[in-house]
Amino acid sequence: MNGQAFDAIVLGAGAAGLMAAAVAGQRGKRVLLVDHNPEAGRKILISGGGRCNFTNLGTAPDRYLSDNLHFAKSALSRYTPRDFIDLVEAHGIAWHEKTLGQLFCDGSARQIVALLLEECAKGQVRLAFGEPVSHIDYGDGLYRVMMAGTRHTAPVLVIATGGPSIPKLGASGFAYDLARRFDLGVIQPRPALVPFTLGEDEALFRELSGVSTEVEVHWKKAHFREAALFTHRGLSGPAMLQISSYWQHRTPIQVDFVPDAARGWLVDAKRAAPRQTLRRTLAERLPERLADALLDKLGMAGELGAQGDRALVRAEEALRRWAFTPNGTEGFAKAEVTAGGIATAGLSSQTMEARKVPGLYAIGEAVDVTGWLGGYNFQWAWASAVACGRAI
Ligand code: FDA
Repeated sequence: MNGQAFDAIVLGAGAAGLMAAAVAGQRGKRVLLVDHNPEAGRKILISGGGRCNFTNLGTAPDRYLSDNLHFAKSALSRYTPRDFIDLVEAHGIAWHEKTLGQLFCDGSARQIVALLLEECAKGQVRLAFGEPVSHIDYGDGLYRVMMAGTRHTAPVLVIATGGPSIPKLGASGFAYDLARRFDLGVIQPRPALVPFTLGEDEALFRELSGVSTEVEVHWKKAHFREAALFTHRGLSGPAMLQISSYWQHRTPIQVDFVPDAARGWLVDAKRAAPRQTLRRTLAERLPERLADALLDKLGMAGELGAQGDRALVRAEEALRRWAFTPNGTEGFAKAEVTAGGIATAGLSSQTMEARKVPGLYAIGEAVDVTGWLGGYNFQWAWASAVACGRAI
């Protein structure tokens, strides 16, 4: 059955698809917004612990990973965190800065989904949720999208179906399949912002499940100063999630467990209080269970005064450069985002349109642009969507 003719069909009603549809609709375009889930924005709803960390004041291109580090610059500069804050405030949504420039709703992430749906309604966007797309083809300048036995057409098709992280929320690799069909490249997708798993050789640390401490974690040139959390499978917490986006398999990450301690701290502590135990000295800076595990691994115990200076210097070095070689990650099932994706080389950074396929656009997480933890990924979703919505 033939359906309606639209100016644009947007596939995926997540952060990026909702925004692009709203912007294009409000410019007078007839837009169909499609999602196989029965409701829009499932990831928004669970984001930020239910309060949606909707942007980050520190947004800058160097806080994104991509094969082309310049690609995100244009869109991010034309739609800034301030632009999204203005929208949030125009909808009367109260917000606060939590830490490190991260902005959250005071109330609920539902408010952000409601905002986006209201913006879509203002643009008279047609919604088609809860129906899988059964077929897509292209000919004579028109994309034909088959769903529920009806064929909708438009000269513009926007891929906004995200990446495969958290499949139980309806996430899929659909974007990549579609991109490949139109000869767009795909950079190998991989789980990012994801907890690490540790092997049997690190069983001692897995016993620390629930222990959290502030660390500085390094992998090659990337480093983050945030909390780390031991889990029954390995390492999590913001510091570990951040570094996971950079990490490559079978390489070690290095953890500084005492980032605030002055150089020579253990030797100084020995001079000041030789009768104090090593355990107590470490436990002044670290949770006790972690202090015990680290000393166990170092094979050290007893009073500071009983340790030679060189042994204390070596122990401090070890605490500052503790190497973990994760045996993997918890994978797409637990990854907050997907790194990699539709190669930016085939897309215009101004409009997100495929250079060689007229009318085909890709936005949001589907594209090979991945932000740090802390609101950067939503800011990319909004910015890439606005660039596209203004162009179609
Ligand atoms: P998104 O995944 O949001 O939307 C894609 C849409 O396409 C979905 O609605 C999906 O159902 C639909 N779809 C998929 N396949 C389809 C198909 N075959 N047919 C039709 N529809 C299809 N980021 C941030 O900045 N701040 C935060 O607080 C958080 N918190 C957070 C928590 C958790 C638990 C997760 C998993 C992720 C986050 N993120 C985040 C990341 C953020 O959610 C993510 O980067 C954006 O949602 C990406 O937006 P997109 O619209 O590109 O994809």
